[in-house]
Amino acid sequence: MTALLELDGLVKRFPVRDALGRRAGAVHAVDGVSLSVAQGEVLAIVGESGCGKSTLGRLMLNLITPDAGSVRFGGDDLVKLSPAALRAKRRDMQLILQDPFASLDPRMTVEQAVAEPLRLHRIVPRDQERAEVAGLLSRVGLRPELARRWPHEFSGGQRQRVAIARALASRPKLIVGDEPVSALDVSVQAQVVNLLGDLIRDLGLTFVLISHDLGVVRHVADRVAVMYLGRIVEEGPAEAVLSAPRHPYTRALLAAVPGHGTKAPPIDGDVPSPIAPPPGCRFHTRCPFAEAACREAAPALTAPPHRVACHLDGRLPPAAPRAERLAGGERLKRLQSFFRAPGPQPGVPRP
Ligand SMILES: Nc1ncnc2c1ncn2[C@@H]1O[C@H](COP(=O)(O)OP(=O)(O)O)[C@@H](O)[C@H]1O
Ligand SMILES: [Mg+2]
Repeated sequence: MTALLELDGLVKRFPVRDALGRRAGAVHAVDGVSLSVAQGEVLAIVGESGCGKSTLGRLMLNLITPDAGSVRFGGDDLVKLSPAALRAKRRDMQLILQDPFASLDPRMTVEQAVAEPLRLHRIVPRDQERAEVAGLLSRVGLRPELARRWPHEFSGGQRQRVAIARALASRPKLIVGDEPVSALDVSVQAQVVNLLGDLIRDLGLTFVLISHDLGVVRHVADRVAVMYLGRIVEEGPAEAVLSAPRHPYTRALLAAVPGHGTKAPPIDGDVPSPIAPPPGCRFHTRCPFAEAACREAAPALTAPPHRVACHLDGRLPPAAPRAERLAGGERLKRLQSFFRAPGPQPGVPRP
């Protein structure tokens, strides 16, 4: 399989300023990520809030510039393209956000919102715009009559369908979905995940699905990459990563998913600050298996197809099946502790 997207050694740091506006360090949002996404593949990026998923997604689309590393899309290094060449490439890559209000202008009707990329990238002649919009709306399960309505007249699920239609309008090759269903009711989430799955298959899309929810990922991903504090700690075929996780962090994430059949020792403590990430393996401060080596040197990822960055790889017991079902209260507690946002960092604005 040929790679459509190849990330190599990506680094992105955000400056942190003190109360007087002086530079006082940096958030290590993405710190040395290399990944490739094959044509037609669905890659899921998972990890707790604040681990750098959205930053990585924006780097992939060159919406922000990396401090180091390269992003190759269809063979071109996006970081080095001229502004004009990059604009032309934009039609091939689209972003779907968690909150469709962020991508839909409240002053545009649905028709205008979906037609805008058609016009911008000259996809169809003007006189075919209306028919093209109607076709896109029915593709995402919306009646074409809804084209004259405004975004605020829709439910959350419908609005996300409009955002998907808009993303599809330029006939992209790659779509990055950043938590595309996280803001929706659970019942609606399944419908939108199914829609995305159908579109990916029918249109041969390459899709990067960013999610903190492993339950969502399980239904559509071909491959899964697990991030912790700006780095990939495990990556491989979805089946292997989700049913035979090798990194203690992946095991802990999975153990916190209700109904998942694995058991892992609980993890103590908070996610360390990305302003001063721990030396050695970034996970060592919370890892129940950490040894001296883990505090000293950062483990490298092993070779593909199932890559893992852990000094103890091969020496840990296999992920044991869950012996007993956790009681509801305990499960909730684990979920909360694993998926809790680290909270705003002092002096660091959330985007
Ligand atoms: N524009 C920004 N300026 C400063 N810090 C940022 C910015 N964007 C993200 N960060 C910080 O970078 C880290 C990673 O953020 P993000 O990529 O949004 O993580 P995730 O999507 O996994 O929740 C967080 O500590 C966040 O506060
Ligand atoms: Mg995010």
